[in-house]
Amino acid sequence: MKKHYKTIKFVFASALVGLVLTSFTSCGKRDQNSPGVEFMPDMYRSPSLENYSSHTIDGDTLNNAKQPVAGTVARGYLPYAYANTAEGYESAGLNLHNPYGSQQAAFEKDGEVLYGKFCVHCHGATGAGDGKVGGKLPGPPPAYNGTLKNLPEGKIFHTITYGKGTMGSHASQLTQEERWKLVFYVQKLQGPKEAASDSTKTVAAVTLTVAAKH
Ligand code: HEC
Repeated sequence: MKKHYKTIKFVFASALVGLVLTSFTSCGKRDQNSPGVEFMPDMYRSPSLENYSSHTIDGDTLNNAKQPVAGTVARGYLPYAYANTAEGYESAGLNLHNPYGSQQAAFEKDGEVLYGKFCVHCHGATGAGDGKVGGKLPGPPPAYNGTLKNLPEGKIFHTITYGKGTMGSHASQLTQEERWKLVFYVQKLQGPKEAASDSTKTVAAVTLTVAAKH
């Protein structure tokens, strides 16, 4: 029994020495960049797959992110119904109206801030077309409270969306809501509409009534 006990002790002792020795020797040779033993290596080394494509792995076909269904509209994105044509411009002038009428005061304030960031360098602080950049353009922007005094809100929105002449489109920088904020501020700079616009409206209304009767 005593002998047996001795043998067990010896086995343990040599195992311990072996362990210490191996750890010493492996320390010297160890690759410093090695991450060590990897448990579940596929967690670290997942296959790299292209988006919008399908792959066959181990006989299974996997589809990655799918293309959106035709006609899908991104969240928060509103399609704009008027084409970038002369007809689209005229039609926007007649039919497109600011949907945020009830929030005019707050929107106008935000519009002023946006105007200072996106428009003032061309149109000038008062909208006279005398901004630092505007003055250098081949044709400086017309004054809001001059030539553009009676420009309807739909046309203002349309121009901010698509641009006009040397003015570029601002659709990628400004959401529709921000563009309507700017419309309020441009209208403030336009000042009160001239009487002529009211009589034009009356004439248009009469024409519409006449047209409806036919
Ligand atoms: C690069 C200079 C430039 C910038 C920036 C610019 N505009 Fe213009 N804008 C012009 C010019 C030039 C015109 C005249 C275009 C024409 O009639 O050919 C114009 C025209 C307009 C008109 C009249 C459009 C019409 O239907 O006749 C409005 C309204 C207007 N700009 C608003 C804005 C607003 C709001 C911003 C800021 C978001 C802005 N613009 C930024 C140069 C600029």
